[in-house]
Amino acid sequence: MRLFLDTANIDQIREVAKMGIISGVTTNPTLMAKEEGVTYRDRVVEICDVVDGPVSAECTARDLDGLLTEAREIAAWHDNVVVKIPVDETGLEATAVLSKEGIKINMTLVFSANQALLAATAGATLVSIFVGRLDDAGQEGMEVVRESVEIFDQYHLPAQILAASLRHPRHVIEAAQLGAQIATIPYGLLKAMVKHPLTDVGIEKFLADSKAYEKESAKTPS
Ligand code: G3P
Repeated sequence: MRLFLDTANIDQIREVAKMGIISGVTTNPTLMAKEEGVTYRDRVVEICDVVDGPVSAECTARDLDGLLTEAREIAAWHDNVVVKIPVDETGLEATAVLSKEGIKINMTLVFSANQALLAATAGATLVSIFVGRLDDAGQEGMEVVRESVEIFDQYHLPAQILAASLRHPRHVIEAAQLGAQIATIPYGLLKAMVKHPLTDVGIEKFLADSKAYEKESAKTPS
């Protein structure tokens, strides 16, 4: 399974990239709106210089011509850019055209296995299922991941399932167990995945015990 970071914040990306655990980044207009003093294009290119893997950048045009133009522009920003397009009728039409041009599409805002199947069939490379938002709406978000993985496996669809809108560490474990190829993880969640209180307690105990034998070693002439 590949782990992506779900943020447009370059400091967070630089910090986490050093740990060798992320192989891509997803952004969206909401994440980008939190960043000040930088254009979307410049930030995406900056991210591509830090992370050598797919970096998703979202289109906002709502008509087909606008979507095609915007997607082609975004795709030209960097070789690693994957263009995010929401799954609706226009989005599917755009994906069908753009995928034939070799542009990689991350079909986003997917909330059902039917939408996932349509996205994959239209030619999307990545299919982003928004697990947390489904949970928020009282549905079982991970069920859509389970159904989609089963369908993609059954028909050997080349699109990869990207579990998105993940809110807590169990989400990541469940997405991994179900066979989602990618989980995109917000910075805070990534931090929560690293931490375990018993690790902290264990480090403190080992440190304290090492001081005891260091004291003994100091007393013994070599
Ligand atoms: O990648 C999509 C993700 O950012 C959406 O997350 O928390 O806004 O539902 P959220």
